[in-house]
Amino acid sequence: MEQLNKVKDGDALREFELKFLSRKGELSELMRGLKDVGVELKKELGEMANEIKKELIENFEEVKNNFTSSAGVKISDVSLPGKKFSDGHLNPISIIQQELEDLFTSLGFMIEDGPELESDYFNFTALNLPPLHPARDMQDTFYVDLKNSNGEYDLLMRTQTSPVQVRAMLKYGAPLKMVSTGRVFRNEATDARHEHSFYQFEGIMVGKDINFANLKSLLETVGKELFGPETELRMRPKFYPFVEPGNNGEYTCFLCKGKGCRVCKHTGWLEIVGAGLVHPDVLRAGGLDPEVYSGLAFGFGLNRLAMLKYNINDVRLFNGGDIRFLEQF
Ligand code: PHE
Repeated sequence: MEQLNKVKDGDALREFELKFLSRKGELSELMRGLKDVGVELKKELGEMANEIKKELIENFEEVKNNFTSSAGVKISDVSLPGKKFSDGHLNPISIIQQELEDLFTSLGFMIEDGPELESDYFNFTALNLPPLHPARDMQDTFYVDLKNSNGEYDLLMRTQTSPVQVRAMLKYGAPLKMVSTGRVFRNEATDARHEHSFYQFEGIMVGKDINFANLKSLLETVGKELFGPETELRMRPKFYPFVEPGNNGEYTCFLCKGKGCRVCKHTGWLEIVGAGLVHPDVLRAGGLDPEVYSGLAFGFGLNRLAMLKYNINDVRLFNGGDIRFLEQF
C-alpha cells in the first residue's frame, strides 16, 4: 500500500503492477508458496492472502483511474491539428448551375424558382401551346390524377422551366431580367441519353426595345463562360411555340475547337441552347402589352452540358447516387 501511494506517473504504475500483481509478481509467488504449508495453515493463510489481494487490486484500480483521468487532461495538446472531415462533393449539375448563376447575377439577373408540379396552363397553354397543339407531343409527361374545379386533368410534372417565364412576368412585370434552374420531367424510356427527370436552365429579359442583337450578345457571353474565351456562337432557325423568331444556339466544339471530332459528330459545333424573342401571346399571358414591351428568352439542359463538359457517357449517372461517380467532382 505504501508503495502504491508513492506511484506518481504511468511508468511507476506499470512497474508496480508488474512487481506485485502480475502472474510472476510477488503476490502470485506468495500464493504459490502456500502449497508447501499444512492444510490448516493453508486455509487460514489462503483466506488472508486473498483478502490482501482483493484490497490491493481495488486500491490499484482506484489509483489507476485517478491517474489516467488526470493524466488524460494533462496530455491533451490543444495546439495539435484537428481531425480532418471529408468535404463531400457537389453534383456536376450543381457546379454548372452555380457557375451560370454567378454569371447571370453579375449581369443583373434575378434568380427565381418555379414549381415542379405545374398546371397544364402554365406549362403549355400560356406558352402558346393550346390543348391539342401538335408540339405538345414532343414533351409527353406525367399527368397527375386529380381534376380541377372545371373537371379537367390540370396538374402535371413540368416538362420545361419555361413556365417560370410567365410566372415571373405576372409577379414582377417589366422590366425584368430573370434566370431559373430546376428539375423537369418527361415520359421517356430511359437509356444512356434519356432520363425521365433532368435539369434545365432558363432565362428571360423583358423591357422596351429588347432585340435579337441583345439575345446574340448574351448567348455569346454564356458560351465564353462555359467553354472558354475563343468560343463562337452560330444561330440557326428553330421552331419553339413561345418564341418568334426562334432559334437554336450552337457553340464551337470545345474539344476540337471547331475542326470536327466525335463529340460534335464532326460538325465543329455543339447544339446547346434554344432561344428567341418572346412571342407576343406569351407576353400577353404574362400581363404585358406586346406593343410596348419585347423580350428575349433562352433555355437549355444542364445534364447535356455537364455530360459534354465532363465527358460523362450515361445520363442516368446523375440520379444514380453512386458515390464513386460523385467523388470525381
Ligand atoms: N423550353 C425549351 C425546351 O425545353 C427551350 C427554350 C427555352 C427554347 C426558351 C426557347 C426559349 O426545349
